[in-house]
Amino acid sequence: MSVTATAISPAVGSFRLSRSPRGIPRFRMAVSSNTVSVAPILTKLQKECATPLPLLRLVADSMAADMRAGLAVDGGSDLKMILSYVDSLPTGVLRVQLGGKEERVEATEFEQVSIPQELMFGTSEELFDFIASGLAKFAQKEGGKFHLPHGRQREIGFTFSFPVKQTSIDSGILIKWTKGFAVSGTAGKDVVACLNEAMERQGLDMQVSALVNDTVGTLAGARYWDDDVMVAVILGTGTNACYVERMDAIPKLQGYKSSSGRTIINTEWGAFSKGLPLTEFDREMDAASINPGEQIFEKTISGMYLGEIVRRVLLKLAEVATLFGNSVPEKLSMPFLLRTPHLCAMQKDNSEDFQAAGSILYEVAGVESNLNARKIVVEVCDTIVKRGGRLAGAGIVGILQKMEDDSKGLIFGKRTVVAMDGGLYENYPQYRKYLQEAVTELLGLEISKNVVIEHTKDGSGIGAALLASANSKYDHNY
Ligand code: BGC
Repeated sequence: MSVTATAISPAVGSFRLSRSPRGIPRFRMAVSSNTVSVAPILTKLQKECATPLPLLRLVADSMAADMRAGLAVDGGSDLKMILSYVDSLPTGVLRVQLGGKEERVEATEFEQVSIPQELMFGTSEELFDFIASGLAKFAQKEGGKFHLPHGRQREIGFTFSFPVKQTSIDSGILIKWTKGFAVSGTAGKDVVACLNEAMERQGLDMQVSALVNDTVGTLAGARYWDDDVMVAVILGTGTNACYVERMDAIPKLQGYKSSSGRTIINTEWGAFSKGLPLTEFDREMDAASINPGEQIFEKTISGMYLGEIVRRVLLKLAEVATLFGNSVPEKLSMPFLLRTPHLCAMQKDNSEDFQAAGSILYEVAGVESNLNARKIVVEVCDTIVKRGGRLAGAGIVGILQKMEDDSKGLIFGKRTVVAMDGGLYENYPQYRKYLQEAVTELLGLEISKNVVIEHTKDGSGIGAALLASANSKYDHNY
């Protein structure tokens, strides 16, 4: 039996902007009289964010090298290269997903429960109790539709989209939180035990039979339909990639065997950091984050951060180069004020007067802007988004290259599918375009024809359900 949810709203949120009544924008004190012009700052930004082919190549090569180092020994590189314990792919169950911006407990097709913001900073028990209560509500609504043989528990595929050191298919220790989560008391604990205990507190007769990272779920879900899927990537609030690896290419593995001779490796590529073109704005954002020095690739390319980088650039332009006139709009100092959907809406707008940029700046940041300022804002968005998309493309090529180098012809000699999920990729056409361009530039026209990047919406939940079924603790012949 399989209960899966679809129609997940994009991790980067809705593209509609609220039409709040126009208030009077508030401004901070006037900018200093020592202003400089916008042009040199913008040129410097564009130069620092540039991703010419040699740089992309370096990033792809470093990604491949880091993969090898992480496979050689635990802690061997920025990439954790986590064993998923998924080495065969299957049929059928119910899932819980935790990990995007719109954190949710999936219930029926049309139901999602967002995890309240305060739980991102609460205690482990509060968070898992909330998830379990979502499951309880689901089970209640489902009523008597679902019958299990006596003595048998309902099984769950648990998609947990954070770095977890898996200890088996149904257990794993949280290494650290990412994406702005700072829940106390979970790091170092088995997240399946946390959920099982919370379900027990709720009186739920359920158990987790597969703990799955969202990338791994995506790969499993997509592979179910298409044998050519070899890699899965998430580009949403956060980012990550996993791929099918040969067991004999994992030196750090001692003793563990898989019947297929292959397994899925969760790279946790968000922690990658080599050769990235970073700016003062990235460094300042990182320093102010709750995980400074960590997840640098994620902070450069994923949906949670693009808007924040742009905001920091605009603030500087307002402060030192009077981008918005003689005063600095107060709201522009608010961290995470600008979000990826805002950037996307501004970039999508082809009107001559950059109307979308004008209204977003006004409604979101309280900024009255002239045409010139709007043009500059859109250019800043493009610079940051282009860098992100192209670096993501280089990351993908790094993984493909590593696989091809290990088994000639495996990847480039035939059709190979990269299953892709996440709101950033799904909803941001310009980002997608930049990503694809980088892949094509790096691989060349001929080879890149064999590499298909396929959007598999909500594949991770379906994959987790399939894996839960395949790893059922019960016999399948009931
Ligand atoms: C987490 C990964 C996850 C990715 C995408 C990252 O922040 O570390 O485990 O797969 O986000 O959701």
